[in-house]
Amino acid sequence: MNDTPISLRDLRKEFVLSHQGAASIKAALLWWKRRSFERLEVLRGVSFDVRRGECVAVLGRNGAGKSTLLSLLARVYKPTSGTIALRGRVAPLLELGAGFHPDLTGLENVFFNGVVLGLTRREVAERVDAIVDFAEVRRHIDAPVRTYSSGMLARLGFSIAVHVDAEILLVDEVLAVGDYAFERKCYAKIDEFRTGGGTILFVSHEMSDVRRVADRCLWLSEGRIVLEGTPDEVIPRYEAGYGPDPDGGTATSL
Ligand SMILES: Nc1ncnc2c1ncn2[C@@H]1O[C@H](COP(=O)(O)OP(=O)(O)OP(=O)(O)O)[C@@H](O)[C@H]1O
Ligand SMILES: [Mg+2]
Repeated sequence: MNDTPISLRDLRKEFVLSHQGAASIKAALLWWKRRSFERLEVLRGVSFDVRRGECVAVLGRNGAGKSTLLSLLARVYKPTSGTIALRGRVAPLLELGAGFHPDLTGLENVFFNGVVLGLTRREVAERVDAIVDFAEVRRHIDAPVRTYSSGMLARLGFSIAVHVDAEILLVDEVLAVGDYAFERKCYAKIDEFRTGGGTILFVSHEMSDVRRVADRCLWLSEGRIVLEGTPDEVIPRYEAGYGPDPDGGTATSL
């Protein structure tokens, strides 16, 4: 069994931003050729490993590149360069309702997601009651998920993710919308997941959650990991220094 389910080396990600280069929409229409582009380097060489059974939190200001990092791991984006090695089944919880089809019912979405995450239809059928009960959405399970509240979406997404026998859980803030009772249930489930050897990489702005579950923190700023250590080592410095990067990435004109 491999002891580093997540391994990143020199990961880089750039986005291209386009600018109208004009002060108004009318001017933009008249001077459409003036459009310019700039390269936004969001991740500028990120390397780290996450060991089996470890829970690692990524900290950083808005726009620091945390969601981009998780999206790269979930294969939503391709890296500009660098390598990502993931060993084991990955269950991503990237944003509220991501992966759900709004017009399908909760039940249909459970099947759809279960299969996308690697289960057979039969395996989903065997687990569907456990998934729905854990999420506590039975009453609404035949309603389209577009009618769900934010908390209900988070509950169903989390419940599916922890019932598909994933080895790696990627969680981007989505648990923040759950109520107190569900949050407690999630933490209990996360502990159970880790005891069973599961590995977690998560993003949160809620430092009490980070202290509660993380073994290790990575502070992402200006596209790099600027500090790494236990929550007690990283959080006070993160809160005191609060990073130099309010706008995300380093831009260069193209
Ligand atoms: N698809 C995209 N195209 C262009 N720019 C993008 C794209 N996705 C993200 N960015 C830019 O990358 C930077 C990092 O965004 P990201 O969503 O990863 O930040 P974050 O750390 O998750 O912030 P937050 O705490 O607000 O969730 C931002 O400047 C954002 O505008
Ligand atoms: Mg984000």
